[in-house]
Formats: sequence, C-alpha cells, structure tokens
Amino acid sequence: MKILVLGGGGREHALVWKLKQSEYVSKIYAAPGNAGIADFAECIDIPLNDFLGLSKFAEKKGIDLTLVGPEQPLADGVVNFFNDKHLDIFGPTQEAARIESSKIFAKDFMKKYHIPTASYCTFDNADSALKFVNDHETPLVVKTDGLAAGKGAIIAKTREEAKDAIGKMMIERAWGEAGKRVIIEEHLEGTEVSILSFTDGKCVIPMVPIQDYKRIYNEDKGPNTGGMGAVGPVPTVNERMLESIVSQVLRPTVEGLNEVGCPFKGILYAGLMLTERGPKVLEFNCRFGDPETQALMPLLESDLAEIMLYVLNERLEEADVIWKNNQKCVCVIMASGGYPKRYKKGFPIERLEAVKGAKSLFVFHSGTALKGNKTVTDGGRVLGVTGCDDTFEKASSKVYRCVDDIKFEGAIYRTDIAQQYIKEID
Ligand code: AMP
Ligand code: GLY
Repeated sequence: MKILVLGGGGREHALVWKLKQSEYVSKIYAAPGNAGIADFAECIDIPLNDFLGLSKFAEKKGIDLTLVGPEQPLADGVVNFFNDKHLDIFGPTQEAARIESSKIFAKDFMKKYHIPTASYCTFDNADSALKFVNDHETPLVVKTDGLAAGKGAIIAKTREEAKDAIGKMMIERAWGEAGKRVIIEEHLEGTEVSILSFTDGKCVIPMVPIQDYKRIYNEDKGPNTGGMGAVGPVPTVNERMLESIVSQVLRPTVEGLNEVGCPFKGILYAGLMLTERGPKVLEFNCRFGDPETQALMPLLESDLAEIMLYVLNERLEEADVIWKNNQKCVCVIMASGGYPKRYKKGFPIERLEAVKGAKSLFVFHSGTALKGNKTVTDGGRVLGVTGCDDTFEKASSKVYRCVDDIKFEGAIYRTDIAQQYIKEID
C-alpha cells in the first residue's frame, strides 16, 4: 500500500515512523514532511492548501490512502475533495470536522447531547460580550469560535483581562475571522488529559490516556504553547474512568454526529478536565494530537495501517487495537529560544546521530529542515525526544540523557516532564 501523509511536524514524524513498520505499507510520501520524516518517506513540496495538486499527486503515484495530520486541511474540506475524486483518505469531512473548527458548533452540540462540558454563552458582538463580563465573576475563559492555532483560549483572572481578550478577538481581530464570534465559559479546575480514539462512525476504540504539558515553563507556568511534552499512559485514568469517558463523551458524540447528518470517521480526540464532578470536555479535536501522537505511537503494538483500513471500511469493531504491556512513554519537546513568541531559525543541530540505534529512544522532528546535509532548526518546537521503558523513571532518565546530549543554539525545554508520576507511581 502506498501512503501519503499530509503535514510536517512531530506528529507526522511519529505517524510515518509507525507506518513504516507496517507489513501493509510499501512506500510513504509526505507533504511537506521535514528532515526527520525524510528518513522514512519521500518528502514532496506541495502546499497543504493545494487540494488539486495533492489529489493529482495521489492519482499519479497510485496512492492507496492519504492520512491528514493537521486540522486546517480537514476544516477546509480536504476529505470532501478527495472523496469527490474517489481517492481514499483518512479523516472526517468538513462538516464533521466542525467539532473542532467551530467551538460554538461543538458547545451547542454538547449541550444538545448532554455531553459534560463547562457552562457557556456565545456572542456575536463585543458590546454584549463586555456586558456579560461586567455581570459575572471571574475567572472566565474567553475563546474564539474558529481555529486559532491553539492560541484562541484565554483564561481571564480578572474582568480587565476578559475585556482585553474580547477586544483582541472581536475588535482588533487578532485571529481574523476566527474571532468574529466568541464563547465565554466557566473556568474548570482539575487536571487535564487527552483521550484520543479511533472511530469509523459506529464503533469507538479509545487510545491510552495521555497528558500534554501545554505551558512553556516547569510547574505549568507561563503562556500556553503547542505542547512542551507528553506522557502516557496517564496512571490517574484507570480502566473504569476510561470506560465512562467512552460512554459519556466519545460514543454520544459519534452517535450525535450521525444524527445531525455529519458522520465522523477518523480520530476523535477529547481534551478533558478531570474535575471533582467528573470529566468535562474542554475541546474536541478531529485529528491526532501533537505531541500526544509522539507518546502514543511507540506504545501502540498493533499495525496502524491495518487499523486505518478498518476505519475506512467501517469495520472497526473487527480490529485489534493492542498497546504494549507495562510500557510508559515520555516525550520532551526541545524548542527554539523565545518560543512561543519570536524565535530565530536555521541553527545547526548537533549530536542528533547519538540516539540512532538506541533501544526504545526516538527523536521525532517537529521543526527541522535540511541545509545541505546538515539538519537545522526550522520552527518553534524543534524536536520531540521520546523514550519508552517499564517505569516512568527509566523512560524519563533515558530521554533527559539524550536531551542533554543534543545541542542547538538557544534550545529550551521543560525539565519536569513526567516527574509527578515518578514520585507518585514508580
Ligand atoms: P482549548 O483550545 O479550548 O482546548 O483551550 C486551550 C487550553 O485552555 C486548554 O487545554 C486548557 O488548559 C485551557 N482551558 C480551556 N477551557 C478551559 C476551561 N473552561 N477551564 C479551565 N481551563 C480551560
Ligand atoms: N496537543 C494539543 C493538540 O494537538 O491540539
């Protein structure tokens, strides 16, 4: 089977790495890919918004299946486009992807189907949003309706901060059309967990629970990022809790999307807050998470390509989705100095080869490029150093040894990824 992977980050590197091990897969292409992906796949230079160019490439090369990494092409209808051309593609249609691409759609949907989430109000003009803030206690969470590259949720501790957020979103339009409408919602307390699942629109199979470390600094301080690390399986989510998340959140979502005429096939990902009153949905994503996928793929025993075929053929209930027994996975992101604000690119990365051949240790590339034959930094998040072992302590110490070894100018990373699980569980 020939596979085309859309995307060029750490998530896609982990997916390509896993697909390469499949007995079904003979060749992988990636658009645009990156310097790490190039080890396993032929990288092609077609922009992700050029659906015609991508579909022509798929036709010409006889691609059997296209896998979509990021949310934007899904929100823009790449699956509809490929379906119209009778090309097989893994992911939800544009209509079903609204569960991620419109927070108002997602919240109204959750309300209708009694899926636990924070209480909320929606606004299409700044005056009424500002009045709401005057009439309510803080903290409040202000969110853009549309996609904002993970930066569209602002936790406002004071009324001033909430008003600032509304001004930025609705008046300055800092996130463009995404901020035309906003949600203001109740602030939830608890710990966050990412539950991703495979679904063919009927059957739902959850993956192991993962924690995404969103803040830039240790102890969850500083601004939100695309994710500075991921670990799993999260020990605080036991089998019973996972079952209740499937029955209260994931299954009703898949059934509800069928009922509203947007059947969902692909990866349904619930970002949850585990509150004192049970798990509540913070957001849905319609795709694999980044960096969750970097921690998930090394833990997945089963063949990813085979599972994707079961999803595509709506026979997921026949699939075996098996996870490695007693394995823990830790992914630490190395980012460019300055991230998540301004940063420089193009610094050579030294000692990348040190990890090659090491057991259960992988360096997934997020933002890298090849300059001549040298790998250089090419993004905010640069590498996801990932390791597995039978305890979090062993997995994390092998990862941090490797992180200390790899060098590039200005590299930053958190030093506390997985540390709470070492103290509590190992
Ligand atoms: P979202 O884009 O909706 O997932 O929000 C991004 C991040 O903001 C989440 O991962 C949480 O850390 C935080 N967040 C979002 N909504 C809430 C909420 N209602 N209460 C507390 N934190 C939230
Ligand atoms: N890790 C968060 C995301 O993929 O959106």
